[in-house]
Amino acid sequence: MTDSSNKTSTVVSEKKFYITTPIFYANAELHLGHTYTLVLSDILARYHRSIGDKTFFLTGSDEHGDKIVRAAQKVYMGPQAFVNNNVAKMQELIKELGIANDFFIRTSDQEHHWHGAEKLWHELEKAGDIYKGLYKGLYCVGCEAFITEKELVDGKCPLHDTNPEHIEEENYFFKLSKYGPEIKRLLLSGEFKITPQSRVNEIVSLISGSNGESGLGDVSISRPERAIPCGIPVPNDPTQLMYVWCDALSNYISALGYGTDNEENFRTFWPADVQVLGKDILRFHALLWPAFLLSAKIPLSRELLVHGFVTSDGKKMSKSIGNVLSPEEFISEYGRDALRYYLAREVSPVEDWDLTRKKFKEVYNANLANGLGNLVSRTLKMAEQYFGGVVTGDATRAPSIKTKMSAVGAFGDIAGMNIPYIIINDILPRYHKHMSANEINKGADVIWELISHLDQFITDYEPFKLVKTDRDKTEAIIWGLLFGLREVAQMLVPIMPDTAQRISLLVGASDVNVDEIVFNSKAPVEPLFMRK
Ligand code: MSP
Repeated sequence: MTDSSNKTSTVVSEKKFYITTPIFYANAELHLGHTYTLVLSDILARYHRSIGDKTFFLTGSDEHGDKIVRAAQKVYMGPQAFVNNNVAKMQELIKELGIANDFFIRTSDQEHHWHGAEKLWHELEKAGDIYKGLYKGLYCVGCEAFITEKELVDGKCPLHDTNPEHIEEENYFFKLSKYGPEIKRLLLSGEFKITPQSRVNEIVSLISGSNGESGLGDVSISRPERAIPCGIPVPNDPTQLMYVWCDALSNYISALGYGTDNEENFRTFWPADVQVLGKDILRFHALLWPAFLLSAKIPLSRELLVHGFVTSDGKKMSKSIGNVLSPEEFISEYGRDALRYYLAREVSPVEDWDLTRKKFKEVYNANLANGLGNLVSRTLKMAEQYFGGVVTGDATRAPSIKTKMSAVGAFGDIAGMNIPYIIINDILPRYHKHMSANEINKGADVIWELISHLDQFITDYEPFKLVKTDRDKTEAIIWGLLFGLREVAQMLVPIMPDTAQRISLLVGASDVNVDEIVFNSKAPVEPLFMRK
């Protein structure tokens, strides 16, 4: 059974796609938790580029506030020298992970960031949403947030396990309470989307309040300059600095030139299509950020994609708890694509997950050294040994899978179908469906389904025996396998870009009608993934 239509995994699109990560506190080195945010976002950005979307991917560093100043003091450094040092390390890691961001925004960057933050402030002021008042209450430096008695557990911030500080100071306040009903409406109508849906309920109930108490109060959006010596001065009142979250959230538009004399990127890319963040900072992104945007009459981001925590020994991986695993360790032992694979496929994008070195090794050996690596080297060795690497064929005459195999996708069973048909009619549509819904783990599962179909195809035909009696049929089988590997490589582009390129080069597909590709392949000199 065949389909001779000339489709490939490349879909041409005219759309724009703007994706952001939160900006990372420049107070310490990034660990695997932050790495997850980065890799998830990079995979989505690369996916959208691969289907032709005009893509802008932003990441950056959060360099102001108490947290930074205190961390710098601990090592006897000035705040700017301290953050420069940490940001250099951050950027080094970003490079090592193969993150292809289009821009890196720093909140200390006056040229690129401050104008946007100032313009946003002006807009909030213009809307009549800023007023001066006295803040009396608690502050958690770890969260860089005001916290209420109600939120404490045994008198401590539950996230940081530290005692909050009592603060009494004159601040500017923002009328957050005014925007609760509109945010709720947009969330319930789906115009402002949060994935997973359970997070929508969480925010809606915060807005609605409980036990007769109304949900949202107004919030302080500045701190006196004498209390925190680093930040963006409030326009027309240098005795106050912008509250670090107010400063930080504006990065998503300042990085696009908002507030500068070149707002072209802002016009092209805003609103953000997906803003990726961890669940600890959901409230800032689902309440404060949309309220700022509504006040400034800027459209809201389309979707917040909220992931869970990477835990280690059951606790959130965090520097302050001291249970961090470093991404560098995994990169040097297994390679960056192996780490990207793990984060893409072995992890749920919306729930907490635990990482252990033992589990990583098991998964690496099973799915990369054995699964993918083994299939690539077996196929390419046969192609080289039997046909000198040059394999011609035709999709309409490619042999079909023989064994009854239940497939997850469109077909209950793929026996009787050939590889190109299965790829075009089942594998690719499901891969694109998941990847465009941000379900990168399910997208990766589809790739590994194809890998197991290809393994089954070898088991069904035993080309290593058949070659002795029927060279033509063997060539048709190897052609089917190479066709499959070519698609595996294309689908892997966003997830494992180096491996995708290596496989494509080894497979050596000619650039003609996909149904009649000629392969000029080479066997790998060493395995793609060494067994550990
Ligand atoms: N600077 C703020 C964000 C400002 S955005 C306007 C911040 N920075 S952070 O460095 O603490 O966190 C950055 C991202 O890393 C967040 O999405 C956070 O959820 C994520 N992670 C930090 N530790 C994490 C885990 N252990 N697991 C998964 N992600 C977590 O918050």
